[in-house]
Amino acid sequence: MKVVICGGGNAAHAFAGVATTRDNLEPTVLTLFGDEAERWTNAMKETGFTVKKHKDSGETEDITSKPFVVTKDPKVALENCDVIVIASPSFAHKSFLEAIQPYVKPGMSIVGCPGYSGFELQVDHFLGENSKKCTLVSFETLPYACRISKFGQSVEILGTKRFLSGAIRKGTETTNDPVAIMQQLLGSDIELILNKTLIGLTLDPGNASLHPVLMYSQWKDWDGQPLDQAPLFYQGISKEGGDFLTEMNDELVHLADEMKQKYPKVEFGEIEHTYTWLLKAYPNTVADKSCLYLGLRTNSAYKGLVHPCKKTDDGKFLPDFKYRYLAEDIPYGTVIAKGIAELANVPTPKTDEVLRWAQEKLGKEYLTADGHLNGKDLSECRAPQTYGIKTLEEFISHY
Ligand code: NAI
Repeated sequence: MKVVICGGGNAAHAFAGVATTRDNLEPTVLTLFGDEAERWTNAMKETGFTVKKHKDSGETEDITSKPFVVTKDPKVALENCDVIVIASPSFAHKSFLEAIQPYVKPGMSIVGCPGYSGFELQVDHFLGENSKKCTLVSFETLPYACRISKFGQSVEILGTKRFLSGAIRKGTETTNDPVAIMQQLLGSDIELILNKTLIGLTLDPGNASLHPVLMYSQWKDWDGQPLDQAPLFYQGISKEGGDFLTEMNDELVHLADEMKQKYPKVEFGEIEHTYTWLLKAYPNTVADKSCLYLGLRTNSAYKGLVHPCKKTDDGKFLPDFKYRYLAEDIPYGTVIAKGIAELANVPTPKTDEVLRWAQEKLGKEYLTADGHLNGKDLSECRAPQTYGIKTLEEFISHY
């Protein structure tokens, strides 16, 4: 089975390095960014490629990978390909889909790992008719916490999730099983579970709200002065921030409920409030489960995690508004929720409030001053409106 891994960062390094050790899997890396393909190929020629995997037991396993191809040529990459795994930040998905589109054949499978909100809308937009002939899988996150140690030569897998949730839309002409192939790639210490739906992942309130609201509540009244320490991220949330997050989740769960009522034949799956998700995701580490605010503050798994900050020359801290908590979660989370709400005519005052603040910090315009989602930077997002979808019926036809 030929698996094409699209990306040149941490995730692509980890997937490629592990895949070569599996029987019957032949990975090829496609990276389009700058001169990464050339640098990776040359670096690998010098030393080979290794993966250092940290296990739950505290031991580490050193994996020596077999040689694999790294290319920037989509035609070469997709020749005889079975499964395409897009393993890059969401903002890079567009460049991969644009590049591979002429070479995707009916029957191939496309896996977003992670896919994130609106992945299927973007795939449908670029692949057109071919999209429904291919199987599409979207996983909600990456199975690893991983970092490149040396570009093109080594990667460290710092942690491995026990399970990874995802959703599938089977292609009319696909004969391979991309989930079984991904399971083989990742190995038996991760369980892949298809307990989500694509629309459920896209409507997930957590993507749209958690990180943006933590940023908003911490920095909305900031006086611009550098701080002595980076504030705690999750555990530092204020009561006001916790209440805001709860209310924003309420409005997004309400949006999902309205959609479910309107389209009873569409399978949405469970669309969870962040409070429900937190208690499920961290059953043993949340000390006070009485509300979302206290759940976040008392979750020991969040201990020590701080706001993304830049250090000044004199050792103080300034917030980094360009970090992925806004730069990725706003255009690939919050904006999509707003776009669907606009189509459904459901008011989302809290979502709008965060979006207005965040887009200003990012130097972008998604929402216009008159409250419509047709700002000048909308093409960078994955809202339905980005792809010319003007009605709820058009939107729902993707599912
Ligand atoms: P990364 O930050 O390592 O990705 C960098 C790569 O993206 C670059 O090497 C390049 O190939 C590509 N890239 C950068 N700028 C580009 C541009 N302007 N145009 C086209 N391509 C560009 O990302 P990573 O760590 O591999 O993560 C992939 C996804 O997984 C992200 O969405 C991330 O949020 C998510 N994730 C990552 C985790 C991790 O431990 N690395 C953990 C959980 C989620």
